[in-house]
Amino acid sequence: MRFDVVTLFPELFGPHLAHGVTRRAFERAVDVRLWQLRDFGDEPHRRVDDRPYGGGPGMVLLAEPLLRALEAIRSDRGAAAPLVHFTPTGRRIDQAVVQAFADGPGAILLCGRYEGIDQRFVDRHVDVELSLGDFVLSGGELPALALLDAVARLQPGVLGDQASHEQDSFSDGLLDCPHYSRPETLALSPREGEDAGAEAGLARVPAVLLSGDHARIARWRRERSLELTWRRRPDLIAAAEASGALSKADLRFLASLQL
Ligand SMILES: C[S@@+](CC[C@H](N)C(=O)[O-])C[C@H]1O[C@@H](n2cnc3c(N)ncnc32)[C@H](O)[C@@H]1O
Repeated sequence: MRFDVVTLFPELFGPHLAHGVTRRAFERAVDVRLWQLRDFGDEPHRRVDDRPYGGGPGMVLLAEPLLRALEAIRSDRGAAAPLVHFTPTGRRIDQAVVQAFADGPGAILLCGRYEGIDQRFVDRHVDVELSLGDFVLSGGELPALALLDAVARLQPGVLGDQASHEQDSFSDGLLDCPHYSRPETLALSPREGEDAGAEAGLARVPAVLLSGDHARIARWRRERSLELTWRRRPDLIAAAEASGALSKADLRFLASLQL
């Protein structure tokens, strides 16, 4: 799998690709090549932007340097790959989008800057426009990194335990359940912990998680996941129901929440 990233700020990518659980994926499975757009700029100053026709604030990324960059990447890559442009006007990235890229051969990722890029380049060459969310960033580098990270962690062998991304939010259409670790009883402030008998100010791990009863634990986690999704993202519950992903026990539990 290969991703070619066109950006004015390739240095923003290095630290992320070299650290964390995804590092191995970027070393072995997900080949990321960075292309400095300025290398394809108009001489004599390798210019890549200019003022917008019609006036108004800001600058626009010029189509010609983008065309030269794309030609160089396509001839280097050989095989066809979709061209992705990051823009707030694009389709919102979700886990289904990430999974589609994780299952594919990679892509060319185009990071915009300034007011955006010349629309004629978009109309002629861009295959898909993606947004990170309903807010405006100063460039497409963070959305590109977000997509690369999410794709990398789905590669086999990247996460220590393969089940861990299968339990993550969205992989089964629901939000994840809450997680707990040591100690079993947490003093919410150090002073309250001094009085071993005091119950106020102590937070306990839900008893079911200490029971050793795996079926009960699995049901408890499923219900917490259903409850959180129902409260925060009813749209996801509706989609899960429509796709038949909810069991009879799930539906009974959801009905009990509405009483
Ligand atoms: C300042 S923004 C341009 C915003 C554009 N004028 C608009 O209002 O839609 C500069 C660049 O950041 C990137 N960008 C900003 N917000 C984004 C988002 N939510 N998702 C994806 N890319 C984004 C795009 O590549 C965009 O070309």
